[in-house]
Amino acid sequence: MLELVRPQVGLHEAWSDAHAEWGPGLHEDGFGITPYDDVETDDGFRTWAGRLIARRGAYWWIVQDGRVLGGIALRSPGDEGVQQLGHVGYGIRPSARGRGVATWALGQVLSHASRIGIDPVVIVCREDNAGTIAMMEHYSATLVSTERRGSVRVRRYAVSRSHKRPG
Ligand SMILES: CC(C)(COP(=O)(O)OP(=O)(O)OC[C@H]1O[C@@H](n2cnc3c(N)ncnc32)[C@H](O)[C@@H]1OP(=O)(O)O)[C@@H](O)C(=O)NCCC(=O)NCCS
Repeated sequence: MLELVRPQVGLHEAWSDAHAEWGPGLHEDGFGITPYDDVETDDGFRTWAGRLIARRGAYWWIVQDGRVLGGIALRSPGDEGVQQLGHVGYGIRPSARGRGVATWALGQVLSHASRIGIDPVVIVCREDNAGTIAMMEHYSATLVSTERRGSVRVRRYAVSRSHKRPG
């Protein structure tokens, strides 16, 4: 069974297993890791998880049978990152991709966003992010704009509270 759980110290080992699969670098979308976070040691992990819980907005880990499959974050409307990055960020560990995990997790977070009054939910992705673009179609998102950011083009989507549910 897939679950969204809040960051928790008890999942350090399972989380590290997923983290190792991504390889080096800060590319784990949806996990809220910064260059200053020590996620390797128990103390550092506890501090980082505590910071995530205390931050504005919400972070969840996507867990199945004790295995961390990915992370998903919902930025609060006042967060300065919303304009550039949208409300939602997410990432799925490579070995768990292509079986609907991100689609499921996004559906859960869209429901949460609706309950707390975020409407529409803005999602920003690179124009070459075929996975996210497919999901936007599933959730009947509106393409609001395409923008150039340096050498990449990004798409900005809006998912209204009345979005269609896939499947
Ligand atoms: C994008 C990402 C989150 C998708 O996760 P996922 O769990 O594999 O997605 P799903 O299995 O729910 O698939 C969603 C849709 O995207 C399609 N898809 C997923 N990866 C794809 C790819 N590489 N190329 C083409 N289509 C892809 C799936 O086929 C599915 O469409 P369908 O239902 O019509 O078949 C994952 O690849 C990832 O973590 N990428 C790196 C981080 C990232 O890009 N985050 C998003 C930033 S906006």
